[in-house]
Amino acid sequence: MPAPVRTAAQWAQFGRDHVSHGLGRMQDLVVVKGEGLDIYTSDGQKLLDFTAGIGVTNLGHCHPAVTAAVQNQVGSLVHMQCSIMFHAPYLQLIERLLPVMPHPSLDQFFFWNSGSEAIEAALKLARKATGRPNVVVFQGAYHGRTYGSGALTRSKPIYTQSTGPLMPGVYTTAYPYWHSLGVPPSTSEEEIVRLAKHQLDMLFRQQVATKDVAAIFIEPVQGEGGYVPCPAPFMNHLRELCDKHGVLLVIDEVQTGFFRTGSYFSVNHIKGFRPDIMIYAKGIANGFPLSGIVSNKEIMATLDVGSLGGTYAGNAVACAAGVAVQDVFASEDIGGNVNARAEQLYNALYALRDSPKTAPLVAQVRGQGLMAAIEFRMPNDPLTHEGLDKGTHIPSNIGKRVQEFCLSKGLVVLTTSCFDTIRFIPALVVSEEQMDKAMKIFTEAVQNVANEG
Ligand SMILES: Cc1ncc(COP(=O)(O)O)c(C=O)c1O
Repeated sequence: MPAPVRTAAQWAQFGRDHVSHGLGRMQDLVVVKGEGLDIYTSDGQKLLDFTAGIGVTNLGHCHPAVTAAVQNQVGSLVHMQCSIMFHAPYLQLIERLLPVMPHPSLDQFFFWNSGSEAIEAALKLARKATGRPNVVVFQGAYHGRTYGSGALTRSKPIYTQSTGPLMPGVYTTAYPYWHSLGVPPSTSEEEIVRLAKHQLDMLFRQQVATKDVAAIFIEPVQGEGGYVPCPAPFMNHLRELCDKHGVLLVIDEVQTGFFRTGSYFSVNHIKGFRPDIMIYAKGIANGFPLSGIVSNKEIMATLDVGSLGGTYAGNAVACAAGVAVQDVFASEDIGGNVNARAEQLYNALYALRDSPKTAPLVAQVRGQGLMAAIEFRMPNDPLTHEGLDKGTHIPSNIGKRVQEFCLSKGLVVLTTSCFDTIRFIPALVVSEEQMDKAMKIFTEAVQNVANEG
């Protein structure tokens, strides 16, 4: 029997009727095609995608080199379970990744499917390598939604609320972010680092002994927490502290990796920085499900043989996509484009922050490379009111209203965090014209909310 023909609206209704209620969605549009930064919907819209599937399709939708590699791989080998034998793309991907690791000690790889699974692998490895039960995470952290990774997530209660108990042994300290520390946005980086160090020191003095801590997990730029870069002095402090106490420093580069911030990994911005374990996913394969962990020989050797694995872990097609992605990075100056387009993007956001009309709406502009955010003031959050004349009206739900306006003009942007923040994560191949177009729409959107009040 032929499948029923449905209109775009009927498909959307079908989705609402049958896709789990537990899955949130920004919009009920049905996307049928993606090409570069353009996405096409079943109701005939062409939209400029500034989400890249949450920082995944970094080379744009259906990049020709990735598509060709995948088509080729599908014709030769789709699946070879990694506990049975090696397969070629798995090893070729390691060959490509070895020279671009942020530290030469990182030469032991394990691939999995999703970021959350890779977090689970890092948790297992950290506990096994140290023989210690506990981990430390940061307020605002997002590491996933499974029972281990969800226990490490601190960006919003919704991800795990009313579903506990989660994995025990997780301690939380303040991220070097003004919201986390209860200080205004203009607070100097030096002061923010001092306050965050103090909170960590208090945690180790009052709540958990360092000798019982296996690892500290940190995102070098917080993602779901609000696109907040961690200052290098704080990262270096963590490195020293971990070395002193035998704690492993686990760097979550799931969202920041693969040139998102202008260098291969965000920690490359800190000279000589050494993660003990690094987690990667998203941009590694431009949309194919692939993630993994990397560590050094000494740490990885503590695992029992067979303790890592999974049916689809390091799938051949996903690895072939990963190889193609790394080859594009090797042959094109993607980092150069990220830096040039980021400058364009930040200049547009700074103009909004500084113009008398829109300044009363903006709390902060921040980010690293093409992982950028504008945080709006919130009527009921006095911390964001810094610098405002008394009695200045602050509109409500600015981000949501800006997002809806942008969509009505053909631009897709995402909000993030429990604060009022819009994030920008376009594909790294975004052109000057596309950035210009997006920033014109975005500027108009913010001006529109300023006018409406
Ligand atoms: C920093 C970070 N870690 C982990 C994850 C979880 O990855 P996944 O959604 O692939 O499970 C994400 C997802 O957004 C992330 O941004």
